[in-house]
Amino acid sequence: MKKPLRGAIVGYGFIMEKGHFSAYRQRMERARAEGRAPDVEIVALADVCRERRELAARQFPGLRTYADFLELLDAEADNLDFVDIATPPSKHAAVARAALGKGLHVLCEKPLATTIADARDMLECAVAAKRVLYPCHNYKHAPVIRSVRKIIDSGAIGQVHLVTLQTFRNTHARGVPEWRPDWRRERRHSGGGIAMDHGSHTFYLAFEWMRAYPTAISGRMSNMSSYDTEDDFSCSLKFPTGVASAHLSWQAGMRKVIYTIHGNHGAIRVEDDAIEVSRNRAGHVVGAAHVDWQFERHEIPSDWMDSSHVTWFDTLFDGFKKSIAEGEWVGKEAEESFLCIQLIQTAYASAQQGSRELPLPELDLTEQVSTRESLA
Ligand SMILES: NC(=O)c1ccc[n+]([C@@H]2O[C@H](COP(=O)([O-])OP(=O)(O)OC[C@H]3O[C@@H](n4cnc5c(N)ncnc54)[C@H](O)[C@@H]3O)[C@@H](O)[C@H]2O)c1
Repeated sequence: MKKPLRGAIVGYGFIMEKGHFSAYRQRMERARAEGRAPDVEIVALADVCRERRELAARQFPGLRTYADFLELLDAEADNLDFVDIATPPSKHAAVARAALGKGLHVLCEKPLATTIADARDMLECAVAAKRVLYPCHNYKHAPVIRSVRKIIDSGAIGQVHLVTLQTFRNTHARGVPEWRPDWRRERRHSGGGIAMDHGSHTFYLAFEWMRAYPTAISGRMSNMSSYDTEDDFSCSLKFPTGVASAHLSWQAGMRKVIYTIHGNHGAIRVEDDAIEVSRNRAGHVVGAAHVDWQFERHEIPSDWMDSSHVTWFDTLFDGFKKSIAEGEWVGKEAEESFLCIQLIQTAYASAQQGSRELPLPELDLTEQVSTRESLA
């Protein structure tokens, strides 16, 4: 019988408790209910906050808890396969480096890191350690986003050349009250404001829909609060295949994502669970004066209002497991998580230079660091 992957978690806050850990538990319970042995178990946890450690110990009797992730790694690494990181972003790199250095695979919440140098170093450490680094790019796993993928793949809207992505939030998300609930607004913990918090989701979706990586970006940001991070951000991206633009705000009057994806045969509009496909009834290109418009509208329940996104985690974890099984230390997901940090930082630089368009270095990581190798 195959042994389950043994994991430890670092950072037992909102997303870990309500998202990852709940999903692990459901996964284990489902396996047992189906008469299978669970393929994952969580045996240890590190969190700097005593109340969070005590809560976890009450919820999961038997879980070994530590105040310091280095202590956890020293005591537990020999008995572990992976570490799942959900601390604030400024700590992701240090935890990932230490875990990879101990020979463990790493699942890491977004954003991968807060600086380009840290993000690059994490990828290089994964290759050197021959262990998987895998980001939590969970929006890809939302049912409505899966539907978008199917529609684009079917050719229904033709070649995509224009994408817009809007993320509206009435406030920044709060972390658990026992630690620093407003860390997202404190640069030293978050590395930036809404672009750092939501930019990754925005950019990896744009890569997928544009079927390319951007060559230039211009950014603009503002801050309507007294915190040292932006709460409104917009950017334009140039791709070899077209253009994309994004607007992210923590100052909105609603909580919603609105995405539009435009091809030469039609377009898709996503508004949380609602999806609308517009096409020319005759099936021809839509770039004409007279189009016989046809609209198809569906509701794809995707739980957008549940910010733990617990229902999206299971297939994400399947992807992590697959990369481990295939020895894909730094795959497409990890490369894209690096590129997201590069884009966020380049957009910040652009915003500071009057929104001047700045080029992006070509993504040359594939040759540099990407490997696929079986575990010895
Ligand atoms: N993918 C998503 O949809 C999604 C949603 C929410 C949060 N996140 C990400 O998850 C991470 C955590 O966010 P959150 O909302 O759960 O925050 P949170 O504040 O609720 O939790 C953070 C936890 O980390 C602990 N912590 C802080 N420093 C630590 C350290 N050095 N070592 C160990 N533990 C430490 C805190 O005590 C706290 O329990 C962030 O990277 C965030 O961007 C992702």
